[in-house]
Amino acid sequence: MSTLKAVRGTRDLLPPETGLWNFVEETARRVFARYNFWEIRTPIFEETQLFTRGVGEETDIVSKEMYTWEDRARAQSEKSQSLTLRPENTAGVVRAYIEHKLGETGLLQKLYYIGPQFRRERPQKGRYRQFYQIGAEVIGPPSAGSESPLRDAEVLEMLATLLDELGIHGWKLVLNSVGSSSDRPRYVAALREALQDKALQMCVDCQRRAETNPLRVLDCKVPEDQPIIESLPKIADYLDEDSRAHFAAVCAALDACGVKYEVNPRLVRGLDYYTRTTFEFTHGGLGAQNALLGGGRYDGLSEVIGGPKAPGIGFAMGEDRLVLTLQAQAAQHGKLADAYVAPVGEAQNAAALDLARELRRAGLQVELGDGSFRVKKSFEIGNKLARKIVLLGEDEVKSGILTVKDFAKGEQVKVARAELVTVLRQG
Ligand code: HAM
Repeated sequence: MSTLKAVRGTRDLLPPETGLWNFVEETARRVFARYNFWEIRTPIFEETQLFTRGVGEETDIVSKEMYTWEDRARAQSEKSQSLTLRPENTAGVVRAYIEHKLGETGLLQKLYYIGPQFRRERPQKGRYRQFYQIGAEVIGPPSAGSESPLRDAEVLEMLATLLDELGIHGWKLVLNSVGSSSDRPRYVAALREALQDKALQMCVDCQRRAETNPLRVLDCKVPEDQPIIESLPKIADYLDEDSRAHFAAVCAALDACGVKYEVNPRLVRGLDYYTRTTFEFTHGGLGAQNALLGGGRYDGLSEVIGGPKAPGIGFAMGEDRLVLTLQAQAAQHGKLADAYVAPVGEAQNAAALDLARELRRAGLQVELGDGSFRVKKSFEIGNKLARKIVLLGEDEVKSGILTVKDFAKGEQVKVARAELVTVLRQG
């Protein structure tokens, strides 16, 4: 008899790796609680039409990747029905919001979830058929401020904070606007027209999408189709005044709190429910599957699945990919601390303890040196224990401007004390 194995695309998570999974989940719960998000748990399977209507018939997820079966009736009072293992959780959360009339509170609902999702994709590093998402959604009636660009910026700022607290270095935020439901028809019409003579030179999927849902042509991964996709009209040119103002307000709020981002006008994301803001956080260490997380606004989703007007914004992080990134970082840096705080001269010892205390309270892993060491010795020890060294001499204590050296890059920079935590968290 052949030995039984876990099904292709699924995995057992074993100790000690499960310790890392617990760390990621505990950190996420802690950060979400600070922003007043509460947990929601929805079923692992739902009626198939929740996803066909919510995520969209023509998306890869619905057309190719769902685990769907006909659930037979067990009694005369029951009907057989088509069920699907959830491929994502936004549609399920919005379904629960409608079913439990959460909008009637008149308040914003801030909900997070942690759990498995299922997609029949081709398995590879960072891509599994059962994978785990940590996600959050902000939904509510427009009177609760659910359409405000401040909600988008707050969610993005929370994500930047969470990735920093997880100790993920070198992430990048990529941002776009895909327009509102009134911008979309004009853009789709322009796409359809541009595709009229070009679609025949594209793959069969694109030929079909050009007819049924031209926006999905932009998701195509076939290399030969890319030059044509590059030549198609850009959504940014079809945004109306309101959509432009919304996007500008999101960007301005991010600028105001120092969250860095890059605008990519081609970021449309592979689900039909998105409106206005869309985003991904990517990480270079992940290879082809470089999206740590993705999300955006979905102002019309509730109505599409039969509910009241309830605009929303949210995201889902690939927990498998967060863990992979943390493992790769640990392998690269060994067990290195974030910083070695080196007082220069014993007179600076007390100030150095105070600085170390501030950094540790901000969640950084810090080694504290000793002012009796010569600077050369501090550098030698620091290089063994930490990724960066922070020098604290008399001048630094007086001016509040510190010297920080990154051992791997060999770079030395001057940093104001208020900026130190941010600088130490970077790559
Ligand atoms: P998504 O981009 O399909 O969005 O998935 C979000 C994240 O889940 C991806 O960035 C990736 O990290 C992870 N992920 C997706 N598929 C796989 C896979 N096969 N294996 C491993 N990880 C995977 C959504 O699911 C939306 N519901 C996000 C959202 C929430 N938008 C608004 N609210």
